[in-house]
Amino acid sequence: MAEQKQATWGGRFREGPDPRMVGFSESVSFDKRLAPFDIRGSQAHARMLAHAGLITADEAGAICAGLDELLGEIGAGRFDWDPALEDVHMNIEQALSQRVPAAAKLHTARSRNDQVATAMRLFFRDAAEKVRAALDRVLIALVDQAEATQEVYIPGYTHLQRAQPVSMAHHFLAYAEMFGRDRGRFAAFAESVNVCPLGAGALAGTTLPIDRGHTAKLLGFIDGTGAPRLTRNSLDAVADRDHFIEFAAASALCATHLSRAAEDFILWNSSEFGFITFSDGFTTGSSLMPQKKNPDALELIRGKSARAHGALSTLLTLCKGLPLTYNRDLQEDKPPVFDCLDTTLACLDILAGTLAGARPNAERCAAAVADPLLLATDVADYLVRKGMPFRDAHHAVGTLVARAEEAGVPLDKLPDTDATAVSPLLTPDWKECFDLKRALAAREMPGMPGPKAVAAEIAAWRGRLGPT
Ligand code: ARG
Repeated sequence: MAEQKQATWGGRFREGPDPRMVGFSESVSFDKRLAPFDIRGSQAHARMLAHAGLITADEAGAICAGLDELLGEIGAGRFDWDPALEDVHMNIEQALSQRVPAAAKLHTARSRNDQVATAMRLFFRDAAEKVRAALDRVLIALVDQAEATQEVYIPGYTHLQRAQPVSMAHHFLAYAEMFGRDRGRFAAFAESVNVCPLGAGALAGTTLPIDRGHTAKLLGFIDGTGAPRLTRNSLDAVADRDHFIEFAAASALCATHLSRAAEDFILWNSSEFGFITFSDGFTTGSSLMPQKKNPDALELIRGKSARAHGALSTLLTLCKGLPLTYNRDLQEDKPPVFDCLDTTLACLDILAGTLAGARPNAERCAAAVADPLLLATDVADYLVRKGMPFRDAHHAVGTLVARAEEAGVPLDKLPDTDATAVSPLLTPDWKECFDLKRALAAREMPGMPGPKAVAAEIAAWRGRLGPT
């Protein structure tokens, strides 16, 4: 058994693991991506041990230098990961101990439980920043499109039925609102995850005189005043996976926004709508039908959003029946989180690229928005301005619509005599309601689709997003 590479608990065991157990138990195949965070955590821990007098400064220096070397080898793909050593943490510790004698002291006053909790918090800080940057790229693409389509008017829809006119810019900015809220959620998440669990040990801290604040400061787990932020209960520190769930929840909601945006743009791209076209780079052809140009990028975004929803459900279910504190089940917490991050980043990237190559089809948009029924509500407002109660006005315009339908004419071509017959308040100027530009210019209050209000929102977004 001397040759058998055994995990660090060898003393208690007389036999190695069943060969079937090695593959079943290992996590290094997926948690090796935590290496940079694990190494940062270990370096800070070693420095703290020296600061507290538990190891010498030379020992800490040797440990840190050895870990730097390993980080370089891992980055260059020259590190040999061994599944028999289970996870990223034991692989790195074992490799370090083969070159640095002081490595045997690195695990002083630390457990893999607080170690993995720390590595994951560092990972999450980094992940949140990456998602925020990707969201910014989508926001810039949306605001660019909004800028270009301020005078492209389209029907807005409810029930997927034409409802009232808006500018295409206003529609793009609706998605900017959603992704802007996502950005806020990831920023809040980065703040709440920024607490140091090191020192919780396996579950009950340590008898050794460590300095938790020192490690926390070295790792940037600090508040606005520079004070360390420490977990307040050692049991919770190693059992808590709230931030995994929060990250998946923020990703799942972002995925829902991605999917809704994809769905809208797929519809707009269909021959039936014809509002928008995409560049060749984000569409694909058919192996059979030579005429096809399919919006696969958007369909994949819509499809992949399911993965983030699944990840959230996996994590909630994983944690719901677990007793305190650490249980090995928790090793399963990482794949869904990694999948959330990778999928969200990929989808945001592809959406930004697809949007950048989108071009509105002004003629098709103009034809769709020319439908006078889109302004039926404005006729009701006209009657309200003349003193009619809204419910009566609604009824009167409904009657007008029915008459136009019976006569087989568009609403704006209904003779004035028919209109006056429905209500004497409908004097010939009622037809001014069908002037599209006028209708939109009448909607300039905050949040409305009036051209000035939309331009102000574009300017506000530019200010928030900074120079591009
Ligand atoms: N790879 C393990 C995980 O992520 C590390 C923690 C192991 N702790 C333990 N007590 N076995 O869950």
